[in-house]
Amino acid sequence: MQLIPGEDLTAHVREAFAAAFGHQPAALAKAPGRVNLIGEHTDYHGGLCLPIALPHATWAAVRGRDDTAVRLVSTWGGEWHGTLGERPEGWASYVLGALRAIGHRGGLEVLVDSTVPVGAGLSSSAALICAVALATSSAPVEELVAPCVRAESEEVGAPTGGLDQTVALLGAAGHALLLDFASSARQQVPWEPWRAGLELLVVDTRTRHEHAGGGYADRRRESEDALAARADELSPLHRRRLRHVVSENARVSALVAALHGGDWPRVGALMTASHESLRHDFEVSCAELDAVVDTALAHGALGARMTGGGFGGCAIVLSPVGLRDTVLTEISTAYAARGWPQPAALLATASAPATRL
Ligand code: GLA
Repeated sequence: MQLIPGEDLTAHVREAFAAAFGHQPAALAKAPGRVNLIGEHTDYHGGLCLPIALPHATWAAVRGRDDTAVRLVSTWGGEWHGTLGERPEGWASYVLGALRAIGHRGGLEVLVDSTVPVGAGLSSSAALICAVALATSSAPVEELVAPCVRAESEEVGAPTGGLDQTVALLGAAGHALLLDFASSARQQVPWEPWRAGLELLVVDTRTRHEHAGGGYADRRRESEDALAARADELSPLHRRRLRHVVSENARVSALVAALHGGDWPRVGALMTASHESLRHDFEVSCAELDAVVDTALAHGALGARMTGGGFGGCAIVLSPVGLRDTVLTEISTAYAARGWPQPAALLATASAPATRL
């Protein structure tokens, strides 16, 4: 399995903007995708999460116009022309959502390109929103977190919880970002598995989810109902949803403690326990995610779990650097045995947050 590269597209994006619009961009920014190490389906309940920013990122180049036309070009989804108030389908909705959320007025030219696999559960949508917001606005990065969260939850209408945009804007190289959505506290926690001869692989199952509808919104509603109900009113389903949320928050704290103590086997075990909880109690895993996790664990990984909203997307695998080929080959073989299209993989090193270029 080839690793998907996370190359620097800065020069390419400048050239592509000039080719598309006939002049240089006025501003350029990039924002990373993310993987969440642990703390899944907890952000919208005021819980704890521990994501890292990926080396894979989305670039946005922008320039204002004298009229009110908004002209968008993406290297993956063609072009969109219209005005700020419109609500198109697909990737353009995230760009317009970001522009409205930051209070942008007037016409704009925007060119976007990305190395974040789209729709794979690596927050390609948050990376797009944050890159466009950062390139267009001159506000301090910290002040863009709330508008970028609103861009997705209110403007686009995907009921996500804020973890993706927060780490895209405020993550740090070599660190995971401990987020407490109850108190809004944030803390950088060193994440350096290479010191112990380990690495974090991301395996894209190539099965896709849709946040704006379906399972994510259902799980959010079910667990909100469970948290609001009296203990004696809880159905077995609501008990399972609740047990995931409560136990997952405890696992985040335990994993941070294990990191501080350099206890990598415990870090791995907590990741795997998180997967089991998401699989059986929250029921957001799928056959492909389970196959990646089970295969990785059977061939030497210290821990593995689905990451992101679930129902497809990506799994993360914490394993010894020397076992990379074995683990990926065994996952490929498990896929082939089931007749599934081959998965893809990338190396997740904790990388820099969104930045103006
Ligand atoms: C998606 C959402 C996040 C979070 C995760 C699950 O990635 O965008 O806000 O809820 O799912 O942890």
